[in-house]
Amino acid sequence: ETIDAGGRYLLPGGIDPHVHFRTPGLTHKEDWAHGSRAAAAGGVTTVIDMPNTQPPLIEPELAAEKASTVSGDSLVDFRFHMGVTVDSVENLRRLQPRQATSVKVFMTGHHTAPNIIRDPVVLDRIFQVAAERGIRLVLHAEDDSVFSLLDETQAPPTGYDAYESAHPRTGGIVASSRVIELVRKHGTAAHILHVSSSEESDLLKAAAKAGLPVTYEVTAHHLSFSAPDTQRLGARIRLRPAIRCEKDKGRLWDAVMEGSVASLGSDHAPHTVEEKLLAVADAPPGLPGVQELIIALYTGMRRRYPGMSTDEAMRHVARLTAEGPADLFGLGGRKGRIAVGLDADFTLFDPDVTWIMAAKHTYAKVGWSAYEGWTFTGRPDVTVRRGETIWDGRDPEQPRFGTASGIWLDAEPAVPGGFTAQRETSA
Ligand code: DOR
Ligand code: ZN
Ligand code: ZN
Repeated sequence: ETIDAGGRYLLPGGIDPHVHFRTPGLTHKEDWAHGSRAAAAGGVTTVIDMPNTQPPLIEPELAAEKASTVSGDSLVDFRFHMGVTVDSVENLRRLQPRQATSVKVFMTGHHTAPNIIRDPVVLDRIFQVAAERGIRLVLHAEDDSVFSLLDETQAPPTGYDAYESAHPRTGGIVASSRVIELVRKHGTAAHILHVSSSEESDLLKAAAKAGLPVTYEVTAHHLSFSAPDTQRLGARIRLRPAIRCEKDKGRLWDAVMEGSVASLGSDHAPHTVEEKLLAVADAPPGLPGVQELIIALYTGMRRRYPGMSTDEAMRHVARLTAEGPADLFGLGGRKGRIAVGLDADFTLFDPDVTWIMAAKHTYAKVGWSAYEGWTFTGRPDVTVRRGETIWDGRDPEQPRFGTASGIWLDAEPAVPGGFTAQRETSA
């Protein structure tokens, strides 16, 4: 098929290394048919799915089963993060590179993350085993101490200053410091997810500068929303980690643009409207976002840096949503860069179109977006995965999807010299 690119930018297919597609067990919130369509419409061709399903993915052998369950529904290619519980640490010894890019550790918790590792002895053991096996850890490192204080059950802030004083500014400082200490002790590669505060960002930057194998992620929603939005959007932007102040948002943008952030993620973690309508104290944290990831990043960049050329903005988008995650998670061989050939992954991005997002544009199963009413700049018009058109939105009245045939990707080493070196150790 020949596609007229007519003034659009050729971007490498996006890689979203942080989605919760909720299979098995939570498919009323999201499933692979809907999640992967949302991805395709947002220019994303590869996702890495989180393990906090019911049951959670903690048995390495079940990865293959999960892959065969979901691949027939998936428009995009995929890999998994393996989960770990206090009772399943020894499973990491059998984990093979094909089964997971990495292991997800929840250091703190909420409704949808039942397997929280609070015991410092267990945490130490996980870091030790991961280091021995060359496994990269990805961590939800939010401070328990601030958890209740951050809770939206408190009187809603009436303004920016009230929010600042009601919300302590440590975020994940304590948990991140623990991670850094464990990395120093064991040499484990650690990637901290959804960093939300300027303090954490500074701390992690310093650790990386000191030569520790520490990297971090920032989400599109922490770059898009800040305290004042919580009054308007309420439970829709009830998230873990919580949305923070304008100042934090600004510092996260600085970190993203200067190259300190290894990858952007959506943390696509949908909950139904009904669940979100519960009393705020019971509304589960999380929002859909895989479709909005690239668009919100680009829109934010245009607003924040009006003098930046389109070329430069596109280079940043490609780095943050394709090259960065491909390098980090060992997808570099076939993903993350524009490859010429029949198996290319790319999206044709119209950088000039402006449009207002409405619920009818969203493909996540829950059918809502925290970005409803936003004027977006830019949109993926056509998305191609391994040479097949999976999204064609050139006629906004009649967008078309391709056929679901996403594949479970083969592994490349997540950590050079580590994980793959163990490839032959067990059958
Ligand atoms: O807000 C969140 N929701 N943060 C997480 O870390 C997990 C997620 C979910 O699974 O709902
Ligand atoms: Zn998390
Ligand atoms: Zn998450």
